[in-house]
Amino acid sequence: MAEPKKVFVKTYGCQMNVYDSERMADALAPSGWTSVAAPEDADLVLLNTCHIREKAAEKVYSELGRLRALKEARPDRPMMIGVAGCVAQAEGEEIARRAPIVDLVVGPQAYHRLPAMVAAAEGGARGLVETEFPVEDKFDHIGRAPARRAPPSAFLTVQEGCDKFCAFCVVPYTRGAEISRPVEKILAEARERVGRGAREIMLLGQNVNAYHGAGPDGRDWSLARLIGALAGIEGLARIRYTTSHPNDMTDDLIAAHAEIPQLMPYLHLPVQAGSDRVLKAMNRRHDAASYLRLIERIRAARPDIALSGDFIVGFPGETEAEFADTLALAAEVRYAHAFSFKYSERPGTPAADAAGQVPEAVKADRLARLQARLAEDQAAFNAACVGRETEILVEKTGREPGQVAGRTPWLQPAHLSAAPETIGEIVRVRIEAAQRNSLSARAA
Ligand code: SAH
Ligand code: SF4
Ligand code: F3S
Repeated sequence: MAEPKKVFVKTYGCQMNVYDSERMADALAPSGWTSVAAPEDADLVLLNTCHIREKAAEKVYSELGRLRALKEARPDRPMMIGVAGCVAQAEGEEIARRAPIVDLVVGPQAYHRLPAMVAAAEGGARGLVETEFPVEDKFDHIGRAPARRAPPSAFLTVQEGCDKFCAFCVVPYTRGAEISRPVEKILAEARERVGRGAREIMLLGQNVNAYHGAGPDGRDWSLARLIGALAGIEGLARIRYTTSHPNDMTDDLIAAHAEIPQLMPYLHLPVQAGSDRVLKAMNRRHDAASYLRLIERIRAARPDIALSGDFIVGFPGETEAEFADTLALAAEVRYAHAFSFKYSERPGTPAADAAGQVPEAVKADRLARLQARLAEDQAAFNAACVGRETEILVEKTGREPGQVAGRTPWLQPAHLSAAPETIGEIVRVRIEAAQRNSLSARAA
């Protein structure tokens, strides 16, 4: 039998890229490709890129430089190189022009074309570029997963693209307009994952709570209704979703947090900034007060919910007083977890051309102050869990021998002493200690 051909996929960016990388590997499996963990072992290297912040494209070009060196160091074994993801979409043919080493460039909505592109590249074709947004659902055309075990917590993309056009963000350009996958396909994929051992499903979308996929009854279903149907799958213990926009946080979704036990008490609900002027300039279409009212309603439905957020500091024109509004909002919400970033000019977005770009040093100072606030709140949230009994979904072996690691319902990483056979199980534990980013637990 011929040696299997080996593909290495390197993933940058968000969870949707992680999901897409798995699907690309699945799509190539029927034509004889198996995944490997390092480019040195690979006949095909795919970079699944992210374009969200600064120097994203530059990082890709330097990675391509390293791959060229690797390729030149092994002249008797060919290596094909492909660029996928959001930089592929944004740069398109520019990549093939600037880096002739690249055999193929494929945008995130065109992965169903990947097997044919790879076959053409194997046949000697060069400079292949696919960055059209097709009308059909790309997932219809991506190959089925081979029958291996699924991770205890599996990703499942239900919605792609974004119609919101926040003034700073490239996603509407790199991923295209919002598309929701049909309910039946999601349920079938979820059942299949659970059948292969998944206990938790993380529903993904750039604007996941704007989900409105066609249901079997011919109507559009909301995310809450989809979650309700997923909760009927036997063996699926936990459901999560990310990322949500405040303006799509509908009453039925808030109610789902109170009513559906499988829906975990965690919500990532980015606000970006606390100043109404900045929010307006960002085109967020909500203000600080409406966000805080929303948080109140969510907490009324699910008092223990862990809230997470995203922040941008140093948006064009942001004053010290406006930044103080962001600090005040964070202090009021007391996030369990959050991501925060310095504003980064993205070519082609409205904010990149705005007046009043904030100097780098000011951005760095504001980021440090915000992160100190967020770290304190995260530590307080974790410390409040000490002594509590809860459950952990065990996902992998831990750092120390004899340990396993997983997540609490509030998505905190936690570790405990237990046999590796507990991987994939939900274990009842008592939280013994809290570190800044994780918890120590003991079987209860
Ligand atoms: N769709 C999601 C998140 C998309 S990107 C949402 O709307 O919440 C993830 C985060 O990256 C954003 O929430 C934002 O905080 C950050 N981000 C996006 N563009 C950015 C930019 N130009 N500069 C800095 N941070 C940015
Ligand atoms: Fe980007 Fe805004 Fe869409 Fe989120 S909602 S992906 S931040 S444009
Ligand atoms: Fe990055 Fe594209 Fe995700 S820009 S964050 S990989 S949608």
